[in-house]
Amino acid sequence: MTIAITPSGQACGARVTGVDLTRPLAPETIADIRAAWLDHHVLAFPDQRMSDDDLERFTGYFGGFGDDPFIKPIPGRKHIIAVKRRADETAPLFAENWHSDWSFQARPPAGTCLFGLTIPPVGGNTDFANQHAALDAMPDTLRARIEGKMAIHSARGGYAPSGMYGTRDAGRSMDIRSGEEALATQTHPIIRKHPETGREGLFGCAGYIIGIEDMDDAEALPLLYELVQWQGSEPFRYSHQWEANTLVMWDNRSVLHRATGGYDGHDRLLHRTTIAAWDG
Ligand code: SIN
Repeated sequence: MTIAITPSGQACGARVTGVDLTRPLAPETIADIRAAWLDHHVLAFPDQRMSDDDLERFTGYFGGFGDDPFIKPIPGRKHIIAVKRRADETAPLFAENWHSDWSFQARPPAGTCLFGLTIPPVGGNTDFANQHAALDAMPDTLRARIEGKMAIHSARGGYAPSGMYGTRDAGRSMDIRSGEEALATQTHPIIRKHPETGREGLFGCAGYIIGIEDMDDAEALPLLYELVQWQGSEPFRYSHQWEANTLVMWDNRSVLHRATGGYDGHDRLLHRTTIAAWDG
């Protein structure tokens, strides 16, 4: 099967056609998809009427399942979570700030797959920001301030009992379970080589990053805020406009992403899996 890859024309992202994800894929097709994923960082596969079995099989081709904490999987599946919002929901949007999925883990997931089931007629794009491009274009003065630094990542701002999705969060249709384990911290280099391509990029951002090792918060927090403004700025972005039956897979080692709103009054439902860290 020959797949066709059409770049988005934005800072990352490509559309992939000529492949049927409802059927098992040949090893050479999987290799082609992996190469395109590493090149474009975000791939969208339109017109795929995938079942949950298909989504799990596809995820498995790229490294097996990552560990998804804090969000209860959908009934009957261990590795699929529902990203959902009811038409009348008023809780703050889920995942509205830039992030790399579960970057607070010791071995964060290599990638994420998100399949669109119910897609609102307006709004609800997922934005991506290419962190290789953000580093390549970064002014030397800003880069000098983060060179060799280790970021301190934690889930506490979101998933601790006092966090955004903690005990005060009400009226949310997603099944989020906050917990004290969200207080744990984990360090990762701010500038990091992609484990598969060796290309340098920025890993993670303010939000899951709560500080910088060996730097006072008085210096680190404004720096992290300045950095995330840079990391998510327009020239590095791709905004994915959803259609039902599209699968999007992204590389958490290369991009940040965030959800966007603008669809009040409409339901939105997507099924998500994470791809485990790459073992080489
Ligand atoms: C996510 O971060 O997994 C959700 C993205 C979205 O809802 O657009």
